[in-house]
Amino acid sequence: MTPDGVDFEKLSNDFLMNTYGERVISIVRGKGTKVWDSHGKEYLDLIAGIAVSTLGHCHPEIVDAIRKQAEILIHASNLYYTRPQAELGKKLIENSFADKVFFCNSGAEANEAAIKLSRKFGNGKYEIITMEGSFHGRTIVTLTATGQEKIKKGFAPLIPGFKHVPFNDLSAVEKVIGDKTIAVMIEPVQGEGGVRAAEAEFIVGLRRLCDERNLLLILDEIQCGLGRTGKLFAYEHYGIEPDIMTLAKPLGGGLPLGAALATERVSEVFTPGSHASTFGGNPVACSAGAATLEVILKENLAERAKTTGKYLFEKLCRLKEKHNLISDVRGKGLMVGIELNTPCKEIVKECALRGVLLNCTVETVIRFLPPLIVTEEEIDAGIKVLGEVLNEFNLHS
Ligand SMILES: Cc1ncc(COP(=O)(O)O)c(C=O)c1O
Repeated sequence: MTPDGVDFEKLSNDFLMNTYGERVISIVRGKGTKVWDSHGKEYLDLIAGIAVSTLGHCHPEIVDAIRKQAEILIHASNLYYTRPQAELGKKLIENSFADKVFFCNSGAEANEAAIKLSRKFGNGKYEIITMEGSFHGRTIVTLTATGQEKIKKGFAPLIPGFKHVPFNDLSAVEKVIGDKTIAVMIEPVQGEGGVRAAEAEFIVGLRRLCDERNLLLILDEIQCGLGRTGKLFAYEHYGIEPDIMTLAKPLGGGLPLGAALATERVSEVFTPGSHASTFGGNPVACSAGAATLEVILKENLAERAKTTGKYLFEKLCRLKEKHNLISDVRGKGLMVGIELNTPCKEIVKECALRGVLLNCTVETVIRFLPPLIVTEEEIDAGIKVLGEVLNEFNLHS
């Protein structure tokens, strides 16, 4: 309920399709690592809109970029050149392995573009190998690509051309490569699948295998990219480069923006008419994106994510020593998960009610995806609340 009496929680329940389940709190305002509800209650945001608000909420340089661009041009369509799209494209290419980029509006669309690009490149080869536990989106194609049965339930028939193998198992990938295989697609760190990082030997081995068998390596860095793991892009940890990489979430600084980046050899198969998006590369979203990337680079937030991530990881390991509900702590940089030996939904809900926002994924994993600007003091404050909640759940379980 807002001070002027609008019960938007009720309106949401009455008028919006029920795809998101119970929402414990409402958010009306954000600044830095904090958000507030309509009663003025403050929350520490350690999930950042699921890895989106990576510079924290309403970062002044993003707000300024949005305001300036909104005053001169909000939309033009891709019938015309627009400056923000070109400038963000240049920045992404200069800072990555890629030679060309295609802009869209979301992660699922970025993966759709990557899949279409692979199929066109394949010229008759179409099969893509993806990982069990992966998450690539909710469109029919990307949910088919996703290696989790619960995401697919009720949507058959799915589309042909995807095979799933166990994550981090190179010989399993090798075994399923066939005449029609064109690509292998992985998240360097699985996010929705429970915060699981690819092992170095796996990624390096995949690159070698893809080279030997003339396959494309697609990295979905939608959740782990743009500084979160301690490098600007997660592939940089492994000394390899992909053929295609997808980005979204933090890319638009909070506005909807996705991108598929590729090498020249791959991107040249997209010719006029191959693919398109009315809103893709929208001027306001790209201006916000350019400001976001600029701040990440200028302030070396990837390095900061590495240091603060290590602090978070160590603190959680100490929490694990005190709480037998925690069975594992894992992650990379500021993408960290703790596995519980009990469902975590109610624990995450209780933390939210006590002012700390986290997320529960795959039923038993509490996920931390804080803004890259989070401080050690804020991490301490968040873990203190989580520790108290775990204590109480332990007493009652
Ligand atoms: C790794 C990964 N790929 C793709 C997606 C889909 O992105 P979107 O929800 O923007 O379509 C997500 C979203 O959580 C993701 O984490």
